[in-house]
Amino acid sequence: MARMAQHAMQAAIPSEDWSAGIPADQDTAVHLSDRHFRTIAELIEGQVGIKLPPGKRLMLEGRLHKRVRALNFADLNDYVDNLFEEHLFETELTHLIDVVTTNKTDFFREPQHFTFMREVAIPSLLKSHGRRNANLKVWSSASSTGMEAYTIAMVLDDMTRTGSSFQYRILGTDISTAVLRLAQTAIYTRDVLAPVPEPFLKRYFLNSRDKSRGEVRVVPELRRMTHFMRMNLMDAVYPVDRDVDIIFCRNVLIYFDKPTQRKVVERLCSHLRPGGYLLVGHSESMVHSNIPGLKQVQPTIFQV
Ligand SMILES: C[S@@+](CC[C@H](N)C(=O)[O-])C[C@H]1O[C@@H](n2cnc3c(N)ncnc32)[C@H](O)[C@@H]1O
Repeated sequence: MARMAQHAMQAAIPSEDWSAGIPADQDTAVHLSDRHFRTIAELIEGQVGIKLPPGKRLMLEGRLHKRVRALNFADLNDYVDNLFEEHLFETELTHLIDVVTTNKTDFFREPQHFTFMREVAIPSLLKSHGRRNANLKVWSSASSTGMEAYTIAMVLDDMTRTGSSFQYRILGTDISTAVLRLAQTAIYTRDVLAPVPEPFLKRYFLNSRDKSRGEVRVVPELRRMTHFMRMNLMDAVYPVDRDVDIIFCRNVLIYFDKPTQRKVVERLCSHLRPGGYLLVGHSESMVHSNIPGLKQVQPTIFQV
């Protein structure tokens, strides 16, 4: 079945100049052949929507060497030749996805979105819920290591302490199992905390007992409200409620081609309650023009 999927994908991918960025004295023991690189690039684009340009080839080779050794393959090309074997495919696809995804994220990344959430979106949504103790649902749909989801949790929890009356739940989803594992542990190194406001640092993070580790953990009160699961934005159906209040889909659409971006945005919007908001990354503001029923509130903020 995996082989059939591969053929279907190969037919769908336009050919490109795959040789760019490859050293002239290519050594097949160390480097992927053009054909093998293309096999992986087509597999990844077909499964996850991410384009692997030739410039990523050296990075891919570098990251795969360890795997090739661990599985006792002769070299990278031998690994790719065996990739579609039934007993390897699922595990290796998961591994390849972890290797090729760009997981850069931060607490309070693009902070205007959190100000908008606090000052505009939540007050407006609470009105439309029309009752006290509304139960808000917020979805971080390319959550990476969870910093976006926990930033949302900090802001919402802070609002409930300062006069707003609501409950909330946060869902984080991502394709990469490696980042989801980190998100679930909610343990981070201290150096990523710079963007977190001082009062939130004290309130929402616990220091590890062993100070030399330089680690902190998000407090259980926020972890209880925040759940993570693996989900591919390329899937035709998302196993998520259809009355979500706010969806964050930031800094992932840029990796997809235009038709895929449109499909993903349309699918995400079908999970929003009327009046719900979709927030995209600041480099993604042009992605969603002309989607029926989607109104642009600010350059990167949309409402259904
Ligand atoms: C650059 S990070 C952005 C993280 C966060 N949204 C932010 O803005 O800080 C992009 C994330 O999208 C995830 N991703 C890429 N393709 C995906 C797909 N098809 N479905 C779900 N997640 C995907 C990657 O694994 C990665 O963690």
